[in-house]
Amino acid sequence: MTIFLDTGDIKQIEQYFEMGLIRGVTTNPTILYKCGLKGGNEALKKCTVDIAELISPYPLSVEVTTNDYDKMISQSVEYSHWAENINVKITIHGPNGELDNLKVINQLENKHDIRINATAIMSAQQCLMASLAGATYVSLFGGRVNNMGYNCCEEIRKTRSLIDQHSLHSKLIIGSIREGLNVVEWLNAGADIITVTPDILKGLIIHPYSKETVQMFLEDAKKL
Ligand code: E4P
Repeated sequence: MTIFLDTGDIKQIEQYFEMGLIRGVTTNPTILYKCGLKGGNEALKKCTVDIAELISPYPLSVEVTTNDYDKMISQSVEYSHWAENINVKITIHGPNGELDNLKVINQLENKHDIRINATAIMSAQQCLMASLAGATYVSLFGGRVNNMGYNCCEEIRKTRSLIDQHSLHSKLIIGSIREGLNVVEWLNAGADIITVTPDILKGLIIHPYSKETVQMFLEDAKKL
């Protein structure tokens, strides 16, 4: 059981890493765009190398920026050379259901010896497919599953059983977190890893009543 941080903000990564709370980092193009990353592949490389160095030997997931078969392979090989602890994110299929992606995952894991995080997954059956293809991590997007009216805890429980019963090696990451409660409920449902945004992680630590209690201690300390 462990926590990853779902961000490209190196200051926040450093802050929570120094507290000993996180055991990895996940990013995707949308997260990096929202963090203000610009400058194409060179900027992506610098940001990636900086984060990877900071959290080494814990893993950093970086997503390919294409759905072309050859480019997914060549980008993944390039990323994997940037740092030893880089895992490459490949989506479960293409934007129109293209099936190249599982072959890419299989080739990268087994032929190129690159650790893959299969991403944009919405169901236990997709987790099973990605796991059979050889992905080291399968990332189920819990918040998005719930948004569609399904209960992601059911998908987590089903995936956990499949992985355990059939001795599959994939680690189950649950991402797309929407509230602090998700961390405990998703771990209890059988997730190996929850990838948490910095805001939600902060919310797990700070409690208004703790603030009030600490204030009381400090006020009374002055009276001693
Ligand atoms: C997980 O690896 C993803 O980066 C992320 O959690 C997706 O979350 P979203 O649904 O908030 O975009």
